Amino acid sequence: MVKKIRKAVFPVAGMGTRFLPATKANPKEMLPVVDKPLIQYAAEEAEEAGVSSLVFVTGRNKRSIPDHFDKAYELESELKEAGKTALLEKVQNVLPEDVSCIYLRQSEALGLGHAVLCAEPVVADEPFAVILADDLIRGDGGVGALEQMAQIYERYQCSVILVEEVPQEETSKYGIVEVEDDDGETATITSIVEKPKPEDAPSNLGVVGRYILTPRIFSLIKETGRGAGGEIQLTDAIAELLKYEKVRAYRVKGKRYDCGSKLGYLEATVELGLAHEELGDSFKNYLKEMAEKL
Ligand code: G1P
Repeated sequence: MVKKIRKAVFPVAGMGTRFLPATKANPKEMLPVVDKPLIQYAAEEAEEAGVSSLVFVTGRNKRSIPDHFDKAYELESELKEAGKTALLEKVQNVLPEDVSCIYLRQSEALGLGHAVLCAEPVVADEPFAVILADDLIRGDGGVGALEQMAQIYERYQCSVILVEEVPQEETSKYGIVEVEDDDGETATITSIVEKPKPEDAPSNLGVVGRYILTPRIFSLIKETGRGAGGEIQLTDAIAELLKYEKVRAYRVKGKRYDCGSKLGYLEATVELGLAHEELGDSFKNYLKEMAEKL
């Protein structure tokens, strides 16, 4: 029987420099898209995929993340007294009861590989997910990216990495994979390289912020030296993993917003605003008016 994915690791210790000054005192994962912070979209995606432990690898200035997933007694009792039941439910439903949060601290920003390694004592000997919250993904038909990947993991019983075709001139922003046996949805990864220049990139299939990994990755990260940008890269450890195990690439069915960039963040805000139950219609009218003036 293939082991279920029960734990998801959220590396959230980054500095968020691209969003300064917004991220001076507030983590980038707490930036809201309409009315929910990025980290909550990521946590919900994990929960929908059956994950029951959310493992946050945090750093300095990240206290608002544990606060967000904690009870907020004062706020809750005030909302209760004021009879604001709908709001109260929103606040109380940030985390389902059967889901628990674990916080680990990455005291030095040594890269994504290092952040994932920090989770080893908690994850131990299980396959697990890694979610980068600044890649916000809306899965087609309401099926989240991680849930789609969990199905691929069950089918192939190996690590699965989410990919998307990226513009050739942008390969240096991504981990790039080379594949074979490509059926248009999923493929076997034959090589992976972190942030290659467009002229060196083996393809234009970029890794987009979701991984299901077997626990062998931990011992491989320990042997991984500093790579691109002087950091310990998860991509480099995955390149090693390929020597021992199969790893599948999976193309997401849905739309991904690069909320690590200002433009991607604005796109997510506009499109999720349009899809929002309460705001959608009036926001659409507003955008139409704006479009006429442009
Ligand atoms: C990280 C990974 C990279 C991946 C990207 C996806 O890079 O190292 O392989 O393609 O996330 O968002 P970062 O964006 O943190 O520089």
